[in-house]
Amino acid sequence: MNNILIVYYSLFHNTANLALEIAVQTGGTLRELIPDTNYSFEYNTAAKEVRNQISRGFCPKLISGNESIDDYQAIFIGSPNWFKTLAPPVMSFLRLNDFTGKTIIPFCTHGGGGFGQIANDIAKECPKSKILPGIAVTGTVTSEEVTNWLKMIEYEL
Ligand SMILES: Cc1cc2nc3c(=O)[nH]c(=O)nc-3n(C[C@H](O)[C@H](O)[C@H](O)COP(=O)(O)O)c2cc1C
Repeated sequence: MNNILIVYYSLFHNTANLALEIAVQTGGTLRELIPDTNYSFEYNTAAKEVRNQISRGFCPKLISGNESIDDYQAIFIGSPNWFKTLAPPVMSFLRLNDFTGKTIIPFCTHGGGGFGQIANDIAKECPKSKILPGIAVTGTVTSEEVTNWLKMIEYEL
């Protein structure tokens, strides 16, 4: 085991696929964040639930993914772009942990809006970390895309 952790939340699996590709190519440990109440798989209902949580700054309780991060030095943090920002379970993870001295690498999947505010939101919650350039992808990512990016930030196996 190396000291790389890949943490993500994903509702429709796009971010999960990207996270898995990063884990395979870095040899890091994959960790899925699961909130105590999941969102609807029906878009309009999910949109209402998410808008409501984001507007209140609500951070759901995590039933999985809240284990210690002490063993890890580099943490890839992934989220779908939800209304230009992080999915609330990812904000829960950021608020639960102290990232002082760690290296943080954001990643996201989106429907056209790229990172939106996601990279900024992560940087704001991790003021004492080194933040490396992340990757934002739509739909399915090619493994070459991930390889090139990991090479650039020097995290390729
Ligand atoms: C509630 C909700 C809000 C979304 N808001 C945005 C958005 O503001 N900008 C964007 O580019 N995509 C948006 N999307 C599209 C998702 O970011 C995209 O489908 C993503 O790949 C989903 O990741 P997942 O499969 O890991 O859940 C939204 C999707 C949902 C369900």
